[in-house]
Amino acid sequence: MAIARIPMAQGLCALCPGGANFRAAICQEEPSKPLTPLKNSSRRGRRGTLPRVKFRDPEGLLRALAGAPLPAAVVDLAAFERNLDRVKAALAARPALGLRVGSKSLRVEALIARLAAGLGARYAGVLCYSARELGWLAGRGHRDLVMGYPVVDPDDARRLATARTQTQVCAMVDDPAHLAVLSAAAVEAGVVLDVAIDLDMAARWPTRRGPGLRLGVLRSPLESVKAVQRLAGQVAATPGLALAGCMGYEAQIAGLRDRVSGRRVLAHALVKAISRPQVRRFRAEVSAALRADGHRLRFFNGGGTGSLDSTRDDPSVTELTVGSGFLGTALFQGLDALDCEPALGFVLPVVRRPSAETATCAGGGYVASGAGGPGGRDRWPVPVFPFGLALTDREGPGEVQTPLVGPGARGLSLGDRVLFVPAKAGELAERFAEYHLVRGGTVEARAPTWRGDAATWG
Ligand SMILES: Cc1ncc(COP(=O)(O)O)c(C=O)c1O
Repeated sequence: MAIARIPMAQGLCALCPGGANFRAAICQEEPSKPLTPLKNSSRRGRRGTLPRVKFRDPEGLLRALAGAPLPAAVVDLAAFERNLDRVKAALAARPALGLRVGSKSLRVEALIARLAAGLGARYAGVLCYSARELGWLAGRGHRDLVMGYPVVDPDDARRLATARTQTQVCAMVDDPAHLAVLSAAAVEAGVVLDVAIDLDMAARWPTRRGPGLRLGVLRSPLESVKAVQRLAGQVAATPGLALAGCMGYEAQIAGLRDRVSGRRVLAHALVKAISRPQVRRFRAEVSAALRADGHRLRFFNGGGTGSLDSTRDDPSVTELTVGSGFLGTALFQGLDALDCEPALGFVLPVVRRPSAETATCAGGGYVASGAGGPGGRDRWPVPVFPFGLALTDREGPGEVQTPLVGPGARGLSLGDRVLFVPAKAGELAERFAEYHLVRGGTVEARAPTWRGDAATWG
């Protein structure tokens, strides 16, 4: 598993069985151990081992949902609050650092409100993923909303400008072509719209400057300080717009797990070790150059759950974004940055016993987005209770049914309930109108998701 095994010319990761492209995906998956195709009768799980994701009180969650129609989604409030405490503890040494909640990884207003209350003075507002979502949140009294991604649709730009009349709003750009549509909307609404510049935080090996292996995702084209300065000058010169911030999301650090199935992934450690100093240097250089050009930034946003520990220590960063860490789903286990626990799950009924070794649940095809690991299996939900269950490689999680194998499957009967943890947090909210917020074995509240609020924002 040495670096020499990475065929750098093609930019492909030899450590991922699928040969995932570093430029496109940044391997999230298990190192090169070949996958053994699972037979339905296998006692081994989807990666050759049974899942390690565990709720502290899975029986309590199932008990609370005993009367609920299935499928049902559940939030373990105690786990959610412990995750919040872990995030706060991780940031304790930097009291001035703001924390912006990444809405895409929650998509439930009640959870965002609980985080805002729990974070107190550290709460910096919401990083939105859709202009319609931002407009909706502004209308509901949420404050300080940053649109985390560029918009090109005039109606979306108008939504941001209208929201600006209700609260502090910031649009995101990484291209001069993004400015005209924002400017037109701001001028029409009679507001000055704040704009932040999104930086390309990809690292290069051996050095950030010059050719080499690119380690990062394909987001912003702004890979040089000069390019950022040029765009900053254009923002400042555009009617209706004001430069207010920068964002640098180091996906190749935040999106890579340090441990997969309990084993350290050397390739990921290497990508992170190469990236961290480059990321920090680039942010420092951008900050200094923009200051020298006379720009005064209100914020410099960085990071995500998986880079909490390094982004926190970057003196250029004034606020961090965290979303997934509060719900601690399967892909966010095994991070050195935050030892979060699962707080979000869903429950399916067993409806079939096709064989003595197999129990089949209704539904369950809630697969997370992204290229993912071998065959995308790390995007699959994980059955966590009863213990000893695994998905089958042959069918995986299906639109209408999800067969389960493993030692736990033999004891399941029709009507039994199985608790799963999704791979990612936000997307589950697109499949459920409400989450059951559970504490101590009872439902404390039922909270609509974005979808339950009759809104689909993608
Ligand atoms: C701009 C931005 N910041 C931060 C994050 C991190 O979010 P999370 O904490 O949910 O991983 C993301 C995730 O994709 C993102 O796109």
